[in-house]
Amino acid sequence: MSRDKDTKTVYVCRLCGQTSAKWLGRCPGCGEWHTLVDEPVDTLVRKGRSLLSASQSAPLPLLEVSTDVDEARIFIGMNEMDRVLGGGLVPGSLVLLAGEPGIGKSTLLLQILCHLASNQKKILYVSGEESLAQIRMRSERLGKIPESLWVACESELDRIIEIVKEQSPSVLAVDSIQTMFCGEILSAPGSVAQVREATARLMQLAKSKGIPTILVGHVTKEGAIAGPRVLEHLVDTVLYFEGDRSHTFRLLRTVKNRYGPTHEIGVFEMTEAGLKQVPNPSEVFLGQRPKAVPGSVIVPCMEGTRPILVEIQALVSPSHLAMPRRTSTGIDSSRLALLIAVAERHLGVALFDRDIFINVVGGLKISEPASELAVIMAMVSSLRDVPLNMDTAVFGEVGLTGEVRAVGRTELRLNEAARLGLKRCIIPQAGSHRLKFSDSLEILPVKRIDEAVAAMSKVS
Ligand code: TYD
Ligand code: MG
Repeated sequence: MSRDKDTKTVYVCRLCGQTSAKWLGRCPGCGEWHTLVDEPVDTLVRKGRSLLSASQSAPLPLLEVSTDVDEARIFIGMNEMDRVLGGGLVPGSLVLLAGEPGIGKSTLLLQILCHLASNQKKILYVSGEESLAQIRMRSERLGKIPESLWVACESELDRIIEIVKEQSPSVLAVDSIQTMFCGEILSAPGSVAQVREATARLMQLAKSKGIPTILVGHVTKEGAIAGPRVLEHLVDTVLYFEGDRSHTFRLLRTVKNRYGPTHEIGVFEMTEAGLKQVPNPSEVFLGQRPKAVPGSVIVPCMEGTRPILVEIQALVSPSHLAMPRRTSTGIDSSRLALLIAVAERHLGVALFDRDIFINVVGGLKISEPASELAVIMAMVSSLRDVPLNMDTAVFGEVGLTGEVRAVGRTELRLNEAARLGLKRCIIPQAGSHRLKFSDSLEILPVKRIDEAVAAMSKVS
């Protein structure tokens, strides 16, 4: 296949897959700079072909379609994993495990496969990144190596498909999709066209044979590697493995799931012997909390279906800069700017000449509005140098007019706070009279942020 004058070139963003007829410095899809690369068109049109096998394409009445997906699910035997997947692997599904290089994807994958293989299922692990000896050495660190775990070092896709047809494993894992290579495509492994084609072929294989397939995908901003976002629409489930490299905690987050809920998270800790599941994240995140100190507030956040207590810390100190510093880790900085403005306006506190630092302890990222009241309380507590009582949790969304708005799942949050031995909780008043909650927890409902701050001084 050569590029003759009939073969046109289009420009594809290697992060989000957006196409453009001409080269642009900035991707119109995701807004990133210098991510458009040229791809010959003839490799792209192929992605339109059917990914399902012929036997599945005959129409039939919807009522007659069988829904025995749940019965056929393959349980991994790791609670954190099974929950994130929505109850185990679905036959024929394609799961993308994405994350930055070095975050622990291969380690997690190997542990998943070891668990699966210990149930006497034949598992095939195809690696295009590591040698067989490296895989063996790594699995020795992780524990006993099950007999039915098979490995192959291969990056040629046709060969992988042959191997799978010969071996017919119960589960297939490919590490990583960016190293896979289809002979018919001109571009280098890791390019958008290669990654897409490799995924489409593996998809076809998974669907036609009913083999659940786990793909590892690297997330990179720089370099010539196509990111997993190019594939998100192709696969059934997208899991992001993330965490702060300087912390040992790792979160596995469901971004897309055709067979279960999204926004579910699994919590792991990286140890000497691989990843350890953390069934009780609140205890771990609150574990290193010092005695009551100014600027520290506990908030029960929902991560998927699970409440997790996290500590938000604020440091507000006089600034010597013309433009005071505003730094936030774990919370969106524009949201912080908004909360600072609300606090200045409706609490009458002066923050314009203060440096403000916000940190969510443990490397967690919180995007829930329920944490907003806690951020304001932490700032006020630090500014006034008054600690909030150790036994108090706070949650609620904050509106622009200083009102505290109701958030969902109040009971779950309160139960988690009570379970961890907290004594009281400042919550939004709206809807609080309807709460079916009869525990030892003292509830302090508030309507506005100034009431919340007043409640804080009462209990501190
Ligand atoms: P790895 O799974 O190779 O990352 P990825 O596949 O996402 O690129 O994990 C890399 C890091 O994990 C490496 O820096 C070492 C660390 N690690 C441990 O701390 N303990 C372990 O038991 C293992 C296997 C790895
Ligand atoms: Mg790896």
